[in-house]
Amino acid sequence: MRTICVGRIADIPEGEGKAVKVLGREYAVFRDGGKLYALENRCPHAGGPLADGFVGGGFVTCPLHGMKFDLQTGQAAGGGGDKARSISVTREEEFICLEVDLADRNLQNHACPCGR
Ligand code: FES
Repeated sequence: MRTICVGRIADIPEGEGKAVKVLGREYAVFRDGGKLYALENRCPHAGGPLADGFVGGGFVTCPLHGMKFDLQTGQAAGGGGDKARSISVTREEEFICLEVDLADRNLQNHACPCGR
């Protein structure tokens, strides 16, 4: 696992999500209730882009078929086995950092927004 910077917190308005790409993998980063969350940007139902979903109350609603997922755990609301992969997210000053498994990728090719 690596901690990798993916953008500025100010780029994600409260109550919205944003897709970020890191070396060919896509993640959805959300701001809800003043907190940051991240999920893999692929709905477990049929691959919908979760970053484009409706965000609120600790959940994101998938824009394709309306399933709701807990932003913290990725678990589908109402039970069932569907779960979006949750990604650990932290703040580093004004930047968003994700804890990602990119052991198979060359991090030299990542242009870090924080300049590190
Ligand atoms: S693809 Fe997300 S609910 Fe169907």
